[in-house]
Amino acid sequence: MAKKTIDAVDVAGKTVLMRVDFNVPLDDHQAITDDRRIRMALPSIESVIKRGGKLILMSHLGRPAGKGDDAKYSLEPTAERLGKMISAPVHFANDTVGDDAHAKAKSLKNGEVLVLENVRFNPGEQKGDAAFAAKLAAMGDIYCNDAFGTCHRTDASMVAVPEAMKGKPRVVGHLVGREIAYLSDTIANPGRPFVAILGGAKVSDKIKVIDNLIGICDSIIIGGAMAYTFSLAQGGKVGGSLVEKDKVGLAKELLAKAGDKIKLPVDTHCGDSFSGDCNKQIVPAGEIPDGWEGFDIGPKSAEMFADLIASAKTVVWNGPMGVFEMPPFDAGTKRVAQAVADSDSVSIIGGGDSAAAIEQLGFSDQVSHVSTGGGASLSMLEGQKFAAVELLDEA
Ligand code: 3PG
Ligand code: MG
Repeated sequence: MAKKTIDAVDVAGKTVLMRVDFNVPLDDHQAITDDRRIRMALPSIESVIKRGGKLILMSHLGRPAGKGDDAKYSLEPTAERLGKMISAPVHFANDTVGDDAHAKAKSLKNGEVLVLENVRFNPGEQKGDAAFAAKLAAMGDIYCNDAFGTCHRTDASMVAVPEAMKGKPRVVGHLVGREIAYLSDTIANPGRPFVAILGGAKVSDKIKVIDNLIGICDSIIIGGAMAYTFSLAQGGKVGGSLVEKDKVGLAKELLAKAGDKIKLPVDTHCGDSFSGDCNKQIVPAGEIPDGWEGFDIGPKSAEMFADLIASAKTVVWNGPMGVFEMPPFDAGTKRVAQAVADSDSVSIIGGGDSAAAIEQLGFSDQVSHVSTGGGASLSMLEGQKFAAVELLDEA
């Protein structure tokens, strides 16, 4: 399913309308706290401006609901940040398809960039509205999708805009190309053993991923609070741990389907209240006493999982093993991260919490790929196809 890339189109003197995912975290003062999504879009941005193209960037930020607090969802801080990362001029339009955008698009010179205001300020964006899409589409000679984090959405800028640009080049950017290569192509053709590591709070978030990976992986390691729902399914005692009682039946089905592919923790690090300085003890999995709750996998589980990871040729990781933001309950996640970093496997880290964990632990340079998509990377691991990518030109 190789898609035509931005590098394969002649952009000199043309206007490229590029959908990026600049939905970055901001603090209360509108300062960007993590600019990875902007940095990861640079190869596509530079590909256009270095070859003398005019670049219009469109993105959403957050989920503005039109309640009069739109200012905090402005994309202006991302335009400023981008301006500091590249030498080309970066302009900002304070609307998306209005007068300011049109005037600034018209005066844009070759090698320059224009960032449009948040596409979600227009109600047509999330409705996939054709009239709104037509206005955006009219601004570009070439469409490029480099918004991996949003690829699971069917918003106007993702689908209706490229549809409206049929007949013009519609391509993928470097980031989307790279994410697909890892999260879809590698997984479809993995080096073996292929080990998946799934954590996080809820089984319900990961059911479809587990279901899809059961057919592909050699082992699926389960950690995080998710493991307690599986423990209940095996008749274990989970004390006051976070569980999804209504998912116990489903956990049983998954266990039956997976045979011995699913690897559950053998011990649990528990505490008697949700704080780093609570009383703690390590107990065998399924033997968590009343009044105690599991906050991390225990040391035996961590070593067992690390051994499995050490022998893997492909590793996919999504979701922490415990409450990693509350030491000492970060130990399991750290051990697993260390094992992934040390292994010579092709290692793929899903976005969201796992990307944050691997970054925070300082291992992001030692893995093959850290995804910029949370929901999008999960959808891809579920084996879903994205309309926003399917409709783009084949290579
Ligand atoms: C994300 O961060 O999940 C993406 O930017 C998509 O945003 P959304 O979940 O609000 O659609
Ligand atoms: Mg999301």
